[in-house]
Amino acid sequence: MSNDLKIPENEVLKNIYSRRSIRDYLPDDIADDVVRELIRAATYAPSAANMQPWRFVVIKNRDLIAKLSGRSKELWLEQAGRSTRPEMKSLVNMVSRPNFNIFFNAPLLIMIFSDFDAFSPQIDCALAGENMMLAARSLGIGSCWIGLASPLGQDPAILADLGVPDRCKLEGTLIFGYPTKLDHKAPRRDKEVVLKWIE
Ligand SMILES: Cc1cc2nc3c(=O)[nH]c(=O)nc-3n(C[C@H](O)[C@H](O)[C@H](O)COP(=O)(O)O)c2cc1C
Repeated sequence: MSNDLKIPENEVLKNIYSRRSIRDYLPDDIADDVVRELIRAATYAPSAANMQPWRFVVIKNRDLIAKLSGRSKELWLEQAGRSTRPEMKSLVNMVSRPNFNIFFNAPLLIMIFSDFDAFSPQIDCALAGENMMLAARSLGIGSCWIGLASPLGQDPAILADLGVPDRCKLEGTLIFGYPTKLDHKAPRRDKEVVLKWIE
């Protein structure tokens, strides 16, 4: 294969390489039209057999976001207490801090649920999430996938409060907001990732 090909730095590639997980937000609200655009971008993700199993809960209410952070921490710490993995210790210390908000005070939370017994709901919803994060980046909005919020999916009271039907399963929780700083350096990227290249 020739190595002479120069890849142009187009907008899509720039967007992919410059997206970062953002954990420091300005208090500014995100307009509803922008939120709708993020959701629209999510729905253009591929899905197995085009089943589109994703459903979204949009939360802009800051008191509720803070409450969900608190409940996630309780549930997560309960589960983490049963883990024997040594790397959990520093995470437990961080999550235990009373002032630690797992959503980093972001002004917008979007929870992604799968709605029915699709072929691959977890993959489909993750692709929708990445579409939202890239769309957000293209609009100058920061984002972060918050795995620490996953235990919320096992709390029937919270799900009922949010109006989520029993058949729906929480697949991911993302935060969005205008970042205090956009050009964060990318954390470590492994270069040796191709197992085999067969021509
Ligand atoms: C499934 C998943 C769960 C994550 N959970 C958290 C989280 O709970 N808190 C957090 O601050 N970042 C979380 N992240 C963000 C990762 O830490 C981040 O993507 C990784 O360090 C690479 O950095 P980058 O996104 O800036 O490239 C999560 C990312 C993924 C994909």
